[in-house]
Amino acid sequence: MGKPKVVLGVSGGIAAYKACELLRRFTESGHDVRVVPTASALHFVGATTWSALSGNPVATEVWDDVHEVPHVRIGQHADLVVVAPATADVLAKAAHGLADDLLTNTLLTARCPVVFAPAMHTEMWEHPATQENVATLRRRGTVVLEPAVGRLTGVDTGKGRLPDPVEIFEACRRVLARGVAKPDLAGRHVVVSAGGTREPLDPVRFLGNRSSGKQGYALARTAAARGARVTLVAANTGLPDPAGVDVVEVGTAVQLREAVLKAAGDADAVVMAAAVADFRPATYASGKIKKKDDQEPEPVVLVRNPDILAEISADRARPGQVVVGFAAETDDVLANGRRKLERKGCDLLVVNEVGERRTFGSEENEAVVLGADGSETPVPYGPKEALADTVWDLVVPRLA
Ligand SMILES: Cc1cc2nc3c(=O)[nH]c(=O)nc-3n(C[C@H](O)[C@H](O)[C@H](O)COP(=O)(O)O)c2cc1C
Repeated sequence: MGKPKVVLGVSGGIAAYKACELLRRFTESGHDVRVVPTASALHFVGATTWSALSGNPVATEVWDDVHEVPHVRIGQHADLVVVAPATADVLAKAAHGLADDLLTNTLLTARCPVVFAPAMHTEMWEHPATQENVATLRRRGTVVLEPAVGRLTGVDTGKGRLPDPVEIFEACRRVLARGVAKPDLAGRHVVVSAGGTREPLDPVRFLGNRSSGKQGYALARTAAARGARVTLVAANTGLPDPAGVDVVEVGTAVQLREAVLKAAGDADAVVMAAAVADFRPATYASGKIKKKDDQEPEPVVLVRNPDILAEISADRARPGQVVVGFAAETDDVLANGRRKLERKGCDLLVVNEVGERRTFGSEENEAVVLGADGSETPVPYGPKEALADTVWDLVVPRLA
């Protein structure tokens, strides 16, 4: 088998220089990359750079090397087309099937998976025209990554920044590995919670748990690679934002509930992978609790936190919404899991055995996914992404 063939489309945004790093990632990991910049992109990074870094010829128009019919052949032979950065203009052209240069022709002839990594000013991204174009592309099965939030071209900041090239590369690797031209979560919105909540006692202390957030992040990444629009509600993870995912940061269980309920309003599926504290301190001391000589500390009184999984399962924001819970058990794992599934009323429950050295913080996981229909899907010990993909495999047929 030859090297996987990747077309890297580069359009005319200030982030074009970051595509050089993406290109290097592809070539260094054994991909044959054909860079197709737009004429505007060459104002930012010249053809010499693209040609030297890719080892392939570079053209922007359909009129070069016409005997090779490049406007058809490049797309036809690609295993993946990724456009990074994708301008508002190129998204509009792709959504409407325009074909006035080599890149837009390639997009029409490609039958392989296509990934767009948009980058533009917040106003351009939020404009209804752009949003409708993105929705059209997603509905057709194109993966459109959400832009990141941060510093934009000038001094301004906001949503519209190109995701980290390393993260774009990882998303593309996943899309290539699945190899399906129309991803099964295309046009869907999914909400994933990740991490562990922290319940403050005073400004410096909290009750927390050992969840790293890695399983939830794996769920978010894999959903994005399967074409979903993803909202990741992240509690105290410290992990880098996955490319193409909307990240909402929260601290406590109450904040996590608010963020999940808000995002779940139009979601097709909600996956609650976060470890949410069952209890929180009844009172919060606004100043640091002091140690007093010859006096025992006050006992910490706890109150119950809201049961978010039970709430969203009982009160689905839209008909047919699929709700998935996670249960970390230390003993009698399956029986406890089955009881929890019934108590919570969710559709699927991922049950894993945890302990000080198991699951928390590690890159691997092992679990059984219980279904409300009585199904039981064991997932052998392996990367958290493999478990994440199994969860989505089980969610997809349950979607309305
Ligand atoms: C300095 C500068 C930076 C730009 N950055 C962006 C950008 O980040 N995103 C975008 O959509 N357009 C950006 N534009 C506007 C595009 O270059 C313009 O819409 C162009 O027609 C896009 O052509 P293309 O889609 O064929 O590459 C920028 C223009 C300039 C002059």
